[in-house]
Amino acid sequence: MESIHLPVKDLRHEYGNRGLHKKDLHPNPFQVFVEWFKEAKVSGTIEPNAFFLATATPNGHPSCRAVLMKHFDEEGLFFFTNYGSRKAIEITANPYVAATFWWSNIERQVRIEGYIEKTSEEISTRYFSQRPRKSQLGAWASMQGIPLPSKAPMEEKYKQYEEKFEKQEVPCPPYWGGYRIIPTTFEFWQGSEARLHDRFLYLKEKDTWSITRLSP
Ligand SMILES: Cc1cc2nc3c(=O)[nH]c(=O)nc-3n(C[C@H](O)[C@H](O)[C@H](O)COP(=O)(O)O)c2cc1C
Repeated sequence: MESIHLPVKDLRHEYGNRGLHKKDLHPNPFQVFVEWFKEAKVSGTIEPNAFFLATATPNGHPSCRAVLMKHFDEEGLFFFTNYGSRKAIEITANPYVAATFWWSNIERQVRIEGYIEKTSEEISTRYFSQRPRKSQLGAWASMQGIPLPSKAPMEEKYKQYEEKFEKQEVPCPPYWGGYRIIPTTFEFWQGSEARLHDRFLYLKEKDTWSITRLSP
């Protein structure tokens, strides 16, 4: 068999646009997240609301995938998905999750850990009703994670739902909806010179957040 080799060991980026100091950090990590998100957005990052969501089975088998944050406030971070998917099955069995945003344009990473809850049906249906019609029909046509012999049966299903819901609003499928991540830690990482990156960990202690600088 032909050997596989990717020449990546010399790929290197020099970080160091700016430093990050404790005195400049807002005591509330939700506030810092909002400020950083706004900067990521204006920096031209594609889908700055995309993050990597890690879940794990109760016996510690992890899995990770990108999802899109669709709402953020002091209640937490919201995303939407299929409740029959692998992530949903893992979340049902183990509600502890981790989320990572990587905004390369501004050399920043944010890590969030916490636990997760399903959103109310009202939140799910309201958000679903605002999605583009094609995405709504796609949610009906796709049983996320189920093996397919080819793409054709799914395309066929899409057409069937297109006809079924013709001239009417597409309802939210019963197996589709939102989750809210309730953060218990935030870590803000800023790339810095000589790999001496800045990292600050916020830990929730009752109603306040402690802030600790970590070695990079
Ligand atoms: C940038 C990006 C954004 C995505 N956003 C979502 C999302 O918001 N919800 C979702 O269910 N899947 C989303 N996906 C697809 C997931 O990464 C994943 O393939 C799918 O949810 C199935 O994951 P699971 O089998 O682990 O449950 C996105 C993929 C990418 C690359």
